[in-house]
Amino acid sequence: MTTADTPPMSTPISMVVEQFSTFRSDGQFIPFSVGKDTIIFPGYDGGAEWGGKADQIQQTITHGIRFASDPDTRISEMPGFGDIITPEQITQVSAYVASLSGKVQDASLIEPGAKVFAENCVACHGANAKGNREFGAPDLTDAIWLYGSGEAAIAAQVRAPKHGVMPAWIDRLGETKVKELAVYVHSLGGGE
Ligand code: HEC
Repeated sequence: MTTADTPPMSTPISMVVEQFSTFRSDGQFIPFSVGKDTIIFPGYDGGAEWGGKADQIQQTITHGIRFASDPDTRISEMPGFGDIITPEQITQVSAYVASLSGKVQDASLIEPGAKVFAENCVACHGANAKGNREFGAPDLTDAIWLYGSGEAAIAAQVRAPKHGVMPAWIDRLGETKVKELAVYVHSLGGGE
């Protein structure tokens, strides 16, 4: 992703962000009251103004992902299992993961695969394989595949994972633009 690829910032979004800045946002959560607007996002948990998940998007845009020169960048990454589990176990666990979102060639692999998954993968992807944002571990039950769907692609990822990298944008865009972008990305619907 380069600066040229960033989504165009429309004037309405700048206006919204400008309006946001007039809202109450002084740290600790303050209960709502008449006459003063308060920012609430879907997924809002009563804890913080920029709660929900927009602040996490902002954090990611600000510091990037595995961007070595930013000390606050997100860093967790999937280990390669090529030397950790056997080729047979990789086949089994790949069948199990593929079965979560559809069809599998050999259904007899699913049960042993679930066992391999429980022993090696749940720490990051979760017991229900729904992922864990703290580790940047994707949901393996949805239709979104970063590196290809199907048993072969899954096995390749397990054997020798690809890791996404995203640069930190804070120095290039500044805090206001990053905040705008976070709001914009959040508004695309992937956020909560
Ligand atoms: C230390 C945490 C961690 C463990 C353990 C882990 N993963 Fe991952 N996994 C990740 C992360 C993070 C990614 C995203 C790729 C990246 O950027 O490193 C990922 C990506 C994937 C993908 C690609 C998803 C996509 O959208 O294309 C698959 C498939 C996968 N993992 C399966 C597994 C399986 C099966 C195991 C167990 C054998 C496992 N993972 C163990 C963290 C982990």
